[in-house]
Amino acid sequence: MMAKRRPLIAGNWKMFKTGPEAAELAKGLKAAVSDMGGVDVLVAPAFTAITVVADILKGSAIDVGGQDLFWETEGAYTGQVSAPMLKAAGCSHVIVGHSERRQYFGETNETVNRKIKAALKGDLVPVLCVGESESEREAQETFSVVKEHLDKGLEGIDGDGLAKLIIAYEPVWAIGTGKTATTEQAQEVHGFIRDWMEKVGGNSIANTLRILYGGSVKPGNIAGLMAMEDIDGALVGGASLDADSFAGIVGGSLGAAG
Ligand code: PGA
Repeated sequence: MMAKRRPLIAGNWKMFKTGPEAAELAKGLKAAVSDMGGVDVLVAPAFTAITVVADILKGSAIDVGGQDLFWETEGAYTGQVSAPMLKAAGCSHVIVGHSERRQYFGETNETVNRKIKAALKGDLVPVLCVGESESEREAQETFSVVKEHLDKGLEGIDGDGLAKLIIAYEPVWAIGTGKTATTEQAQEVHGFIRDWMEKVGGNSIANTLRILYGGSVKPGNIAGLMAMEDIDGALVGGASLDADSFAGIVGGSLGAAG
């Protein structure tokens, strides 16, 4: 069997933590996860906390990302934040197309595509989120929805871009609900995503692509997920807001990967 890819555990802090609260969490994380080798760690604070968190984590093994971006670099776009702004604030990554943005803020596959292109142009690693809703799963549309997210979200991205990308599979019905997909359900879709990448980007990009699972990941379920062939890490919401539980997930991912 092919060697597993280096795991990545990413924390999406969503609209939680003021600057001072985020600083406290970042200090806790730095102490709790800095001596764990063999795994990449990323946190995505709210825009208002990025600078303070990036300053605290500078020189540590923990990277910082944005939760979203706008596709223009600058201009009269009230309320928006661009790739160069994230980069200058200390980000190396940016989450694009999270289901909450698709659900509440009018994000479409077309806007996702523009944002992915802007992230790559701005030297940020995009973490593209894909995944079906509960009704789509019940209607057996999981694969067609995920395929459309990939086809349209990544339209026109060349091999260099595809090679940089990270994909997160997040079944919407498992986000913040306490319902985790079974490891087999997750693996099935991760395998589908890797096959898609093989067709579009070729074998070597598909083999190195990291595909994260997201949706109610906790210290207690990470090892089972990581044991699956095509699951390379996790995008964690709720359990990333506490240093001990996030460190437990980081540690748990290592155990299985080693
Ligand atoms: P959750 O969120 O871990 O709270 O389910 C995951 C996500 O939305 O990225």
